[in-house]
This record gives sequence, structure tokens and C-alpha cells, in this order.
Amino acid sequence: MRRKLLPALYNLKAHGLLPEEFAIIGVARQEIAQEDFRRQKSSDIHQFATTRVEESLWAPLAESLGYLQGDFADPATYQRLAKMLRELEQTRSTAGNVLFYLAVPPEMFSVIVRQLGASGLVRQEGGAWRRVIIEKPFGRDLETARALNGEIASVLKEDQIYRIDHYLGKETVQNILVFRFANGLLEPIWNRRYIDHVQIIVAETIGVEGRGAYYDKAGVLRDVIQNHMFQLLSLVAMEPPISFEAEAVRDEKVKVLRAIRPMRPEEVLQRTVRGQYGDGFVDARKAPAYRREPNVSPNSTTETYAALKLDVENWRWAGVPFYLRSGKRLARRDTEIVIHFRRPPLLLFEQTAVERIEANRLILQIQPDEGIELRVKAKKPGPSIQLVTVNLDFSYRDFGETTAATGYESLLYDSMIGDTTLFHRYDMVEAAWRIATPILDVWSSIPPRDFPNYPAGSWGPAAADQLVEQDGRRWWTPGE
Ligand SMILES: NC(=O)c1ccc[n+]([C@@H]2O[C@H](COP(=O)([O-])OP(=O)(O)OC[C@H]3O[C@@H](n4cnc5c(N)ncnc54)[C@H](OP(=O)(O)O)[C@@H]3O)[C@@H](O)[C@H]2O)c1
Repeated sequence: MRRKLLPALYNLKAHGLLPEEFAIIGVARQEIAQEDFRRQKSSDIHQFATTRVEESLWAPLAESLGYLQGDFADPATYQRLAKMLRELEQTRSTAGNVLFYLAVPPEMFSVIVRQLGASGLVRQEGGAWRRVIIEKPFGRDLETARALNGEIASVLKEDQIYRIDHYLGKETVQNILVFRFANGLLEPIWNRRYIDHVQIIVAETIGVEGRGAYYDKAGVLRDVIQNHMFQLLSLVAMEPPISFEAEAVRDEKVKVLRAIRPMRPEEVLQRTVRGQYGDGFVDARKAPAYRREPNVSPNSTTETYAALKLDVENWRWAGVPFYLRSGKRLARRDTEIVIHFRRPPLLLFEQTAVERIEANRLILQIQPDEGIELRVKAKKPGPSIQLVTVNLDFSYRDFGETTAATGYESLLYDSMIGDTTLFHRYDMVEAAWRIATPILDVWSSIPPRDFPNYPAGSWGPAAADQLVEQDGRRWWTPGE
């Protein structure tokens, strides 16, 4: 709330995208007076806003803030909340439209949804809508995700449920669809005839940053790959939807995930590599090993790095491997999708000084810079034929007027206007867990013996290089 949602709400206000008829109620157990709550949020916004805070914009937002003390498991909390919401219908003309944002510990998701149902708070009457945003993580494997879906489906209709993934709020991620489908030149080559393979990397330089207790139970496959990276993969690999309407887009995304055959146990060992960082240096500063982080077990076998080779077994992608890798404490912070095209025939350049021709690459940069880059070959000016790589690139920074954002702005806005396109549907979550769960099962039954197997500040374990090199390829290093 402090770091992301409040700054995002402020940005929406600054863009004129929050109505006057609007209020926010914070609910938690702590006793806080209304005035103290507003003061606390004022101090938070000044600390975490992504732009300069204009008092003329913040003051009305601060005024719309209220607080309710209560326990999520206590039905009386919901009765008091219902009373507050009825009052807001009068005082702030909210028309009974309510968005419940479950920015709460995950074990509370089903508790709250059940109570919202029992108290009648999610009943949609008289044209008013009631929606629920559910944060991550959504389950820890296929079984728990299915159970959670079942529980919330007994209270809410699917179009009331907004399973949020803040990665999908990023400009470049949304742009993947526009870029792919609004540019006619790409579609004919976006398949196995022209694309050799695809790499997706989510590299972080940070460690667990005070979230050791959570992370040690999760690991990178659950924390990043199963949700964010599988979403990126589905955006890159999906068929063109028949429209940009939510269900049309989500139908195509889920089809891609279903086209990835879950690995058999023996395949897990050949097609995945896991790692955990040891002591090292990040940005020339000493970084302690994962096992020495606060609230992490000194014998932890949790993976802080994983690399996977996935096959999308449909007509567009058969034979085109998708290599995914993500890790903490890597050499550089970067999220990129790299489309590696097939190499042209070399015969033409046999008589020249050209030894090797790198294939064309299209790089979709998602973080920290947002942009698109196409690497092509050109002739170096001069009497002999020498090839150089040139970049045709575009950066979101070139749009001078874009303001820094948290990634939650468009998601919050979409949930208010009722657009579920960028949110996970129940079947997408389950399809993603169907791929991740067999890997997690094998990993937990065969504990790693070589952890820690990469130093903080490196590009991960050596075994990950073999994963691509055995196929005659190599990892794309961000910044290359
Ligand atoms: N932190 C991250 O980096 C991060 C990143 C991505 C997603 N998320 C997800 O975002 C959500 C929010 O994260 P967070 O770190 O802000 O969560 P959090 O601090 O663990 O919990 C949020 C609030 O819930 C209240 N709460 C907990 N149990 C309660 C209960 N029984 N009754 C009433 N209130 C209760 C807490 O206040 P009181 O103690 O006063 O009750 C706290 O203010 C989580 O689902 C998390 O998984 C977090």
C-alpha cells in the first residue's frame, strides 16, 4: 500500500483518472485514529511517490482516506465495513461500487472472500458492481491454486475476480501485444520458420531484502517464473486474438500455456537448472550468501535462480525452444525478451573476412529501461566487406512526457472500469501451475547437493550455460 498502491493512486489522480466520487478505506488490526491514518499516508506519499507531490492533488485524495480497525477473520469487521460503505454512498456518492483490494498475507485471501460473501458485501445490486483484487502468490502449486479458485468461485463470479500481476501493468508488457499485432511486418515471420529460439530473462541484483521468511518458502520458480515469466511467454507466443476484449485475449494466452507439455520427472533434470547464491560482490559491494540472509534457514535448499527449457507444442512454435532464466543477486538488473531469428546462409560471405554471422535479434526490454531494439547487420564503411551490428532502437524515454509509474496504475484503473484483460483468469493460473508443479515436485524430492552454486554478482550457475550450449546456443547477456 505504502510503496505501490498509494503512489499509483496518486498518479491516477494526477492524470485526472480518479473520479471525485471516490474514497478509500484501509482495514487492518492496528488501532489508528482516522487523523493519524491520513497523516501516516501523507508521510508515505512524500516518501514513495514516483513524481513530485502537488498538494492541490494530494489534499483531496488524503481527505478521501478512511480507516477501519478489525480482524479479517471476525464477521463484525465486515458489518462495520458495510456501515462505512453505506455512509460513503451518501457522503461521496460512490453509487455502491466497491473494489476490495486484498493486499494482505496470502493465507487471508480465502478467509476474506468467504467473509465478504457471508456478509453480503459482494452482492451486486441495483447496477452497482463489487469486485475483488487478489494479490500474489495465488497458491503454491496446482492443488492449492485449484482449491483457492474453488473457494473464491463459490462466492464470486469470475468477472468479479481480478488476480493481479504487476508485471502486466508495465508499458512494454502491454506493448508486446500492440507491437506484435499492429505491425503487419512481424506476423509472417513470427513462427518456427524464421525464429530459432526465444530467451526470457528476469535478472535481479537484489537479495531477499527483508523478505527472507516469505522467500525461503517460495523460491524463484514460484515467486517470478510461474506467474510473471509465463505471462511474458504467453504474450510473445499467443495467436492473434479476434479482438482486444478481455476474454478473447485471455483465451489465446491460456492456449499457449496449455500447449506447453508438463515435464516428466526425468526431463526435469535435463531441462531445468536451479541455483542458490553464495557470498560475492554486487555492484562492487560485498553481498552475503543467501543462507546468511535474515530469516533464511542456514541449510536452506530454496532456489534463488532457475533456468528452464520449455517447448510450446503447437503449429507455430514446434521445435522452437523457449529458454527462461531468472535469479537474485545476478550481475545486472534486467528483464528482457529476446527473439533470436534464424541465421542466414553463410556461403555468400565465404570469400569475405566475415567469420561468423550472428543472427538478427529482436529485444523487448522491460526493466529497468523500457524499449524495443532490433539488432541487424550492416556493412562497415570501407573498401572491404566487414559486417557490424547496428541497433534500430526505440526507448520509452523518447516519449518525453511519460511520467515515472509504479506499474499498478493501469491495473488499478482497469479494475475500476471493469477491464479484466491484464488480470489472470482461473484457468491461466492453473495452466501455469500445471507446468511448474512437476518441476517443483522433482526438486523437492531430490534436494540439491551443490548449493550455493553461484557467487552473488555472477550470471548464475555454470550448469545453466550447458542447458543452452548442449543445443548449440548461448545465453544472451543483457547489455551485450
Ligand atoms: N511485499 C512485497 O514485496 C510484495 C510484492 C508483491 C506482492 N505482494 C503481495 O501484496 C500483498 C501485500 O503485501 P504486504 O507486504 O503489504 O503484506 P503484509 O504487510 O503482510 O500485510 C498487509 C496488511 O494486512 C494486515 N493484516 C494481516 N493480517 C490481518 C488480519 N488477520 N486482520 C486484519 N488485518 C490483517 C496487516 O496489518 P495489521 O498487522 O495491523 O493487521 C498489514 O497492514 C500480499 O498479498 C503480498 O503477497 C507483496
